[in-house]
Amino acid sequence: MKLKTILVTGSSGLIGSEAVEHFDRQDHKVVGLDNNMRREFFGEAGDTLWNLERLKRATKRFSHVSLDIRNRSGIEELFKAQRFDLIVHCAAQPSHDKARDIPLVDFEVNALGTMNLLEATRQHSPEAVFVFMSTNKVYGDAPNEMAMTELETRWDYARTEDFEGVDENCRIDRTLHSLFGASKAAADLVAQEYGRYFGMKVCVFRGGCLTGPSHSGVELHGFLSYLVKVALSGGTYSVFGYKGKQVRDNIHSHDVVRAIEEFSANPRPGEVYNLGGGRGNSTSMLEAIERIEQMTGRKLDWRYVAEARKGDHICYISNLSKFRTHYPKWRITRSLDSILEEMIICERSRQTVVSV
Ligand SMILES: NC(=O)c1ccc[n+]([C@@H]2O[C@H](COP(=O)([O-])OP(=O)(O)OC[C@H]3O[C@@H](n4cnc5c(N)ncnc54)[C@H](O)[C@@H]3O)[C@@H](O)[C@H]2O)c1
Repeated sequence: MKLKTILVTGSSGLIGSEAVEHFDRQDHKVVGLDNNMRREFFGEAGDTLWNLERLKRATKRFSHVSLDIRNRSGIEELFKAQRFDLIVHCAAQPSHDKARDIPLVDFEVNALGTMNLLEATRQHSPEAVFVFMSTNKVYGDAPNEMAMTELETRWDYARTEDFEGVDENCRIDRTLHSLFGASKAAADLVAQEYGRYFGMKVCVFRGGCLTGPSHSGVELHGFLSYLVKVALSGGTYSVFGYKGKQVRDNIHSHDVVRAIEEFSANPRPGEVYNLGGGRGNSTSMLEAIERIEQMTGRKLDWRYVAEARKGDHICYISNLSKFRTHYPKWRITRSLDSILEEMIICERSRQTVVSV
């Protein structure tokens, strides 16, 4: 196997850190870029330095750069100094709700930051594979137009042809996105353009709920991780609207990184894929709360707020057929239960460390 030089942006975050570890294990040279801006977005609970320290201990060839993706000249210098074979772009303002308070920063990070990286790649590493982590929020609330049926603990699609979930043909305009969805949609389109217009090996993954043990879970981002945190350390979880029956599909960060790896081994320029846990890993809020209560043996304190979050999905399941067809070796390897078990173990050990 040819050893590669890989740039991971957002390397102290959930997906970035999983990518760093995965590719470092294979002896590739991994450069991680992260300025811990998650702390600026979400306060102390969003601080990612613990994860950076963990990565430094766990890896062999990883190096870290504290750089802001909005800093165009800084990004240019980084790309001038070395040629990259793969860029895994995970740095973002990742919250739907937070964007409302910081619309300019949100756009600068998500849209312009992505553009800075794409252009630096085009100028200095044009042969590189570029993977952009987009989001299902680019579809705005269009998925809510699908016919739904109300079951005892969840909403579901009413039509059998929708059973597998939302595919990439769902429209992305003329819909309510939230500012976050709009800034990501801008980046998503520009990334596709670098693939289609310039012929670069760009991939766009539209994520469902990406999850795993390395999330610095906060109320505004990282729902399973935050649920587990509240279950184990107390506090009250708020469920917004849709009777708590809204459905999310959850994918472990490892399976996300495996998808990135599959694409990078056999890139198809400008492609867009929905990437989530699919129907098998879908859960409603009510179901997730019940399962976490069973698994932790603790009652979760939660309250119901009747008003749904603006632009929130009622039932979102990623249809994975396109990616599965293009990359048949890829599959979901972590079930929802195993994701939760791992999160509970991690949260318990973090609490032990804090209380020692
Ligand atoms: N987690 C999810 O449920 C989910 C769902 C759909 C899409 N996504 C997308 O996947 C990507 C990764 O998500 P994640 O959950 O790992 O997010 P995360 O918040 O855990 O990680 C993002 C990292 O980027 C860093 N960062 C933010 N702004 C930066 C900047 N200006 N310069 C440098 N670094 C910066 C943060 O400090 C953080 O460590 C994001 O693009 C996100 O929008 C995530």
